[in-house]
Amino acid sequence: MRIRKAELEAVTGKPSQYPEEGITEIALAGRSNVGKSSLINTLINRNNFARTSGQPGKTQTINFYNINGDFRIVDLPGYGYAKVSVAERQKWANMIEKYLTSRQSLKEVVLLLDIRHEPGEHDKMMYDWIKSFGYKGYIIATKADKISKGQWQKYVSIIKKKLEVENTSLIIPFSASKKLNLEKVWETIESMLEMHEEKISLDKTQTEDE
Ligand code: GTP
Ligand code: MG
Repeated sequence: MRIRKAELEAVTGKPSQYPEEGITEIALAGRSNVGKSSLINTLINRNNFARTSGQPGKTQTINFYNINGDFRIVDLPGYGYAKVSVAERQKWANMIEKYLTSRQSLKEVVLLLDIRHEPGEHDKMMYDWIKSFGYKGYIIATKADKISKGQWQKYVSIIKKKLEVENTSLIIPFSASKKLNLEKVWETIESMLEMHEEKISLDKTQTEDE
C-alpha cells in the first residue's frame, strides 16, 4: 500500500467526538505495551507518530488514524496494566466497550500478542469476544525480533492452542523494530479492506434487486 497521507483524526474516549462514520475502521486491541502504537508507526513509516513508550499504559484514549482518506486504523488503549486503580480500569472498560459495540464503521478487530508470552486470561477474553462478534480473528504476534525465526512456529502453536485459533495462517509474527513481515501485515489489511468493499457492493446489488 502506498501511504499518501496519514492523519491522526481524533483522540478521544467519547462517542460524540469520534470521527464521522462511513469509512472502514480496523481496530487494534491488546495488552498494554504489546506494541500497538509501534505497529501503526511501522505501517505508516513514521517514527513516534503514534506515541509509544517503554512504560505500559501510554495510550489511554481511542486514537483514530486516517490513512489516505480511505480507511482508519484505530489504536485502542491497552488492557492488563496492573498499576491502575479499579476506577480507571472501569473507565477503560466502558470506553472500549462503547466503541466496540456501537461503531458501525468497525469492520475488523485485530488482536496483538507478544509472541514470547503465552496468552493470558485477558487475551483469551478479548479473543473470544472478537470471535463472538463475527470478526475473522487475526492475531499479530509482536516483537518477533526477540526470538529467532526458526522458533516462530513453536510460539505460534502455543498461541493457536491457548486461544483456540482456527487456522495458523491467522497468526502473523511481526516486528516493528526490524520490520519483519511488514509486507504481510499490509497484505492482510488490504484483504480486509477488499473483503468489506465486496460485501458493501454485494449488499447494494441485493437491495437493488429487491
Ligand atoms: P499502550 O499504549 O500502553 O497500550 O502500549 P502499546 O501496545 O501501544 O505499545 P508501544 O507500541 O508503546 O510499545 C511498547 C514498547 O515495546 C516500546 O518500548 C516499544 O519500543 C517496544 N516494541 C514495540 N514493538 C516492538 C518490536 O517489534 N520489537 C521490539 N524489540 N520492541 C518493540
Ligand atoms: Mg500505545
